[in-house]
Formats: sequence, structure tokens, C-alpha cells
Amino acid sequence: MKLKDKKILLGITGSIAAYKAASLTRLLIKAGCEVQILMTKAATDFITPLTLSTLSKKNVYSDVHSGESWNNHVEMGLWADAMIVAPATATTLSKMANGLCDNIIVASYLSAKCPVFFAPAMDLDMWKHGATQQNIDKLKKWGNHLIPVGVGELASGLVGEGRMAEPEAIVEHLESFFGQKNDLENVKALVTAGPTYEHLDPVRFIGNHSSGKMGVAIAKALADRGADVKLVLGPSKLKVEHEGVEVIQVVSAQDMYKACNKRWRYTNVAVLAAAVADYRPVTQAKSKIKKKEKSLNLDLEKTIDIAATLGGKKKPNQLLIGFALETNNEEANAKRKIKRKNFDFIVLNSLNDKGAGFNVDTNKVSIIHKNNKIKKFELKTKVAVAQDIVDEISTLAKKNSKKKKSKK
Ligand code: PMT
Repeated sequence: MKLKDKKILLGITGSIAAYKAASLTRLLIKAGCEVQILMTKAATDFITPLTLSTLSKKNVYSDVHSGESWNNHVEMGLWADAMIVAPATATTLSKMANGLCDNIIVASYLSAKCPVFFAPAMDLDMWKHGATQQNIDKLKKWGNHLIPVGVGELASGLVGEGRMAEPEAIVEHLESFFGQKNDLENVKALVTAGPTYEHLDPVRFIGNHSSGKMGVAIAKALADRGADVKLVLGPSKLKVEHEGVEVIQVVSAQDMYKACNKRWRYTNVAVLAAAVADYRPVTQAKSKIKKKEKSLNLDLEKTIDIAATLGGKKKPNQLLIGFALETNNEEANAKRKIKRKNFDFIVLNSLNDKGAGFNVDTNKVSIIHKNNKIKKFELKTKVAVAQDIVDEISTLAKKNSKKKKSKK
């Protein structure tokens, strides 16, 4: 049932293990999935597209275009709930890890917005080689899921690691991924994302570089695991389409505060990823401020601290997660914010780390708990960072509910 109605993009590459793709397809179809198969040219030497299209009841694509028509890899990457590359050869892993986009599988992988799983298949020494292991590490760091290889007799006659996982094991892997997905089913979540704009006059504002990417990824990751998510989003170009996420568009820090404060008492978990203005103009001119003097002084006043306000009213059954964007004394500043705003944990990102912070697709974070326990993560995509944060929330929520039960 866990895989019922899931849309699976199955990429088959050129290994003798490609023959197992037929039973993998059958098992996925039996589990209720819709399966779209992509093959490399080399894979078609091991198993025919006809066999696979018969089993999947769909056309199989092995090129970015068939005859006159273009096989839209971007659309397929967006359509899928999960992409599986099985078997994934050493060559394909290398292409995926280095963005070498010369076939429909890598093109779809690079466009995919869904979780990606890969089941390597190769000979013992190829598997052990530093180059292969480095590629796998890279793919894992970006949030892709390795389906571990099996041990046994290999096509070369050698015995050892490198066999593609059995189709049953691949399906189990997916089932446990999608099963874990509902661990936040009864959770009501509130997420803030993006910048706020504080208007000086009808044409100008004080703002910042936040794109909303980090917070939107968190909102989606929470919803993917069953939470009912309200996303309070400052001015952002992002389009959020997810059935579990309701978007509340706001502009200023005051609007964001109102939207959050109203919902806080119905919320189990709030994640505040927005970059909220700390100051706003005392007055907003009704018409455009004209250029007159050499300089212009602005009177600014503090905005309300949304996090500290919610933190001040936090009940024992609520979790409040904050972010800290720092440029110096990072850990010490973040720890102070945990106390001041009553966070359960804070996600620290620093503008000193390349690829971290505003308006990029990656982030490098540390999670610091209120007991000062710290977990440091590598640079990853914001989608993968969001999954780490949601894992941490899930663990904390489980601990809290155990504590509550043992008190009864
Ligand atoms: O949107 P992206 O381009 O993906 O960039 C992501 C990000 C860099 C914006 C994000 O990762 C991040 O760090 N968000 C918090 C930025 C920030 O304003 O940090 P801060 O250290 O100033 O604020 C600390 C915490 O208090 C934050 O949770 C913030 O949301 C909250 N806050 C701050 C001010 C205020 N008036 N009200 C608040 O609730």
C-alpha cells in the first residue's frame, strides 16, 4: 500500500544486472506504481525496450528525442514521486556526480525535483575504487539515496561486493522511505520563508537577499512526511505547488508576525527560516520621496521579533525551530538566540561558507540544540538540508511524546 499510486521514473543503464529491471518493473507495478522507464543505449543491449514497455504499459525512452518528437526529461523529472537508477553503472554514477548530461537518464536526474535512489552494479574492484566511492559520496551528500550493493558472484566470476541489490530489496527500500513519510501525519506545522519588505514609500523598500528556497524546501519536506503545513512566505519569486502546503503571502515583518501569531496556538511545530527585517521606517511616505538634499536620514524603529514572541508563549507540546544567519562568532551568537527566543534547536548557516546562505540551491548548516549538542552537516542541496532538519524534528517530536506518555 505504501507505494500505491506512486509515480516512479526508472532509469536502466548498461550492466548485465539490467535483466533484473524486468522483475523490478513487475514488482513496482504490482505494488500499484505507475512506472516510466528510461534506458541508456547500452542498457538496450542487455534487455529490450519491448520487454519493458510491455511490462510497464508505457513507451520506453532511450533518447532525448524519438524521431520527430522530444522526450521531455524536465517534465518527467517533475512528474515523478521518486526516480530510481537501477542498475547504476560506474560510468552513470560518474556522470551523475559530475553533471555530464549526455543521455536521457542523466538529463532527467539533473531536472528531477523528487528523491533519487541509485542501485549500483559493477565488478568488485570497480566498486572499491576511490573514484567510484568518491562519486557515491558526492551523490549521497546531495541527498540522493544509495541502495546498498549485495555480495556474491559477479559477472566477472569474482566473488565480492558489487552486485545490484535484488529487486525485492529495492522495493523494500522504497517502501520504507515512503512509509517513514507519514511519521508527521498528525502534525500541524508553521513555516516562515523568504525576505520581508519594509516600504519607505510606494516605490522603495528595505529588504534582503532571501529567495525563500530554504524555507520552501522545509515546508515541502514536512508536507511530504504527512504534516499539514502553513507556509508564511515573504515576497519571493518561488511558486509553491504541494497539496500539503497552504501558502500565506505576506510583505512586511508586521504582516508575517500577524500571520504567524494567529496560527501559533494551533501549531505543533514552527520552523522560522525567513530573513525578517529587524528595523522598519517609522513612517511610510504616501508618495515617492523626491530627491532634494545631499543626504537623506531615515528614522527606523524595531520590528516585532516573531520568534521571541512565539517562544514566549510556547507550550510543552510545541516545538519552535529557528535559524541563525551569521557572519562572525557564529556558534556563540546562535546559542544566544536559542536562549533569547526559546528555540528547541537552531539551524546555523554562515555567510563565510561558500555555497551557503542566501539565494543559492545549497546550504551548509549546523543544528544546535538547546542543551548545546551540536550536529555539523556538509554542504548539501537545500532539499537535502530540509530533510535533515525534518529528521531532527521527527526525532525530537517522538522523544517528547514518549516523555509525555511516561508522565501519565
Ligand atoms: O531564502 P534563501 O535564499 O534560501 O536563504 C535562506 C536563509 C539564509 C534566509 C536562511 O537559511 C536563514 O538563515 N534564515 C534566517 C535569517 C535570519 O534573519 O536570521 P537571524 O539570525 O537574523 O534571525 C534569527 C531567527 O529569528 C530566525 O529564525 C528569524 O526568522 C527570526 N526572526 C528574526 C527577526 C524578527 N524580527 N523576527 C524573527 O522571527
